[in-house]
Amino acid sequence: MPTETVYGLAANALNPSSVAKIFEIKRRPSFDPLILHISKDYDLGQIVNSVPEAAEKIIQAFWPGAITIILPKCASVPDIATSGLPTVAVRCPAHPVAQELLTHCKFPLAAPSANPFGRISPTTAEAVEEELGDKIPAILDGGPCELGIESTIIDFAEGKPAILRPGAISAEDLEPYLGPIQQKGLGEHPEAPGMLKSHYAPRTPLYLAFEKLPQELPKENAYLFFDRQQNLPPISFTLSAKGDLREAAANLFQAMRELDQSDASQIYCEPIPDYSLGRAINDRLIKASSGAVALIDNDFIVAPAGR
Ligand code: TXA
Ligand code: MG
Repeated sequence: MPTETVYGLAANALNPSSVAKIFEIKRRPSFDPLILHISKDYDLGQIVNSVPEAAEKIIQAFWPGAITIILPKCASVPDIATSGLPTVAVRCPAHPVAQELLTHCKFPLAAPSANPFGRISPTTAEAVEEELGDKIPAILDGGPCELGIESTIIDFAEGKPAILRPGAISAEDLEPYLGPIQQKGLGEHPEAPGMLKSHYAPRTPLYLAFEKLPQELPKENAYLFFDRQQNLPPISFTLSAKGDLREAAANLFQAMRELDQSDASQIYCEPIPDYSLGRAINDRLIKASSGAVALIDNDFIVAPAGR
C-alpha cells in the first residue's frame, strides 16, 4: 500500500496469521513490532487502552500524517503484531489511497515498510516490485511517496514523550505542542528496532565523509551529495540542488537505490545539515553506512571503528 512516507506491506492487524505472513515475507525478526495504520474515522479506543493528553494534542495537530504514536494496547491487538509488548504503534496515514483502503477495510492494517528486513525502504511501486514483487499478491500503486522517509515515532506509553525514531515530522515541528522532547539516540537500548545500527542498507558499502567533498573526485566511485550542482562525477546523485531538507528526504531512498545499482564498488556521502529533517536523513545514512571516511591526499581513508 502507498503512504505519504514509504510503501507499506499491509495485512489485517487483528488477524494473527495475516500478520505472521508479513514477518515471513519480510524475513523480519519476530522481536520487531509493527505499526498499525488506521483510517481517520477509526475509533482508536478499539486498539489502545488510554490516550494521554499530550498524545491527544499530537493527534489533533498531525493526523492524518507522518507521525506514529506508541500507546498502551488493548487485548484486541494480537501479540504477534506488537512482538509481545504491552504497547502498540499507531499511525493514521495522509495518503488518499491509503485512507480509502483503510476506510474500506474497517480494520487496522499492520504495515512495515515494504522491503526485506535491513534493506532500503521503497518509495515507488516499482521499488516494491524490485524488492518483493515475487512474494506478494498485489501492489497498490499510489505514485511516488511525497515525503520519502518514514514517520517519526513518539513513545507516549510511559511518562515523558520521547522520540524513538526521527522521521518525516521534525522535533522542531513537535516542540510547540510538547516542549523540549527527549530523543533516544543510537547506542542506547534499541526499543524500536528501527534503532538497530545496521538498517536501510544498500548492497554497495556506503561511507560517510566528515566534511564536504573536494570538487575533483576519483571517477570510479559513486557519490551522494547534499546540494552540489557542478563538477558532478559520472556516478552521483544530488539530494537537493537548492539545499532543501524536505526535498533531500524525499529523494534519499531513491538515491541510495540508484547508486547501489551502479557499477561503483563504494558510495561516498557528504554530510547533511544535522537539524530538522536533516536529522532523520542522517539517522538513515548512519544506519546504512559501513563507516566513516576522511579524504587524505585524494585517498579515502576509512576511519577506525569508534570514531
Ligand atoms: O512511515 C512509516 O512509519 C512506514 C509506513 C509504511 O507507514 N512504516 C514503517 O514501519 O516504517 P517499520 O515496520 O519499517 O518501522 C516501524 C518501527 C520499527 O522500528 C519498530 O520497532 C517500531 O516501529 N515499533 C513498532 N511498535 C513499537 C512499540 N510498541 N514500541 C516501540 N517501537 C515500536
Ligand atoms: Mg522499515
